[in-house]
Amino acid sequence: MKNLIVANWKMNPNSQKEAKEIFDAIREGSRGLDVEVIVCPPAVYLYASIFGEGVVSMGAQNVYFEDKGAFTGEISVEMLKDLKVEYIIIGHSERRKYFGETDEIINKKIKKALEAGLKVIFCVGETQEEHDAGKKNEVLEKQIKIGLDGITDLANLNVAYEPVWAIGTGNNCGVEETKESLDFIRTLIGQVRVLYGGSVKSDNSGEYIKEAGANGLLVGGASLIAEEFIKIVKSAE
Ligand code: PGA
Repeated sequence: MKNLIVANWKMNPNSQKEAKEIFDAIREGSRGLDVEVIVCPPAVYLYASIFGEGVVSMGAQNVYFEDKGAFTGEISVEMLKDLKVEYIIIGHSERRKYFGETDEIINKKIKKALEAGLKVIFCVGETQEEHDAGKKNEVLEKQIKIGLDGITDLANLNVAYEPVWAIGTGNNCGVEETKESLDFIRTLIGQVRVLYGGSVKSDNSGEYIKEAGANGLLVGGASLIAEEFIKIVKSAE
């Protein structure tokens, strides 16, 4: 299976024009490379006319677990499917921290997305405090146990190990420690693609693939700079 490189644009950029410029540059730079590339923009940019067809697939940063109805502000799996969205990031630490997403809510979202045939990038990872208290494995185990409760078909599941302390801080996780965590996640879940995320840049990305054994990368800040992101994609070939 190809390595998976995911651009998580978070709440950026602020205009369709900029989104299209970054996206077009990423698509052209990714053409012909033996890597699966996904761009997850804000939901308002998730339509094919901005993205064009092929090379790079679209992913959403969030979804709601109900089918439809009176849930102001939310987006359903069917809406995403109708837009030809292929992937959904679920359980990102920013959603856990700022929007109160619990492991139980994340479990419902993952179930709904997988049942609909969408591919999931399920984020897990410990905070600085948990890390310093030596609770990393305990945290990962809990997030995974509840997050995947009742889910048996893992064919469309990808997991991203994102230590919260490494996200957007420039303090990326060391290769050895990353390898340990990725291996630990595989012992809990089995053979799914396991990605690393947290301050990935082109000068550290290759190590995660080649030395830590990651099956891909979840890239935040660096995914908004097309040239830098393409270097990251190339390092995963
Ligand atoms: P970062 O974000 O690459 O800016 O650290 C990663 C993420 O939050 O997925």
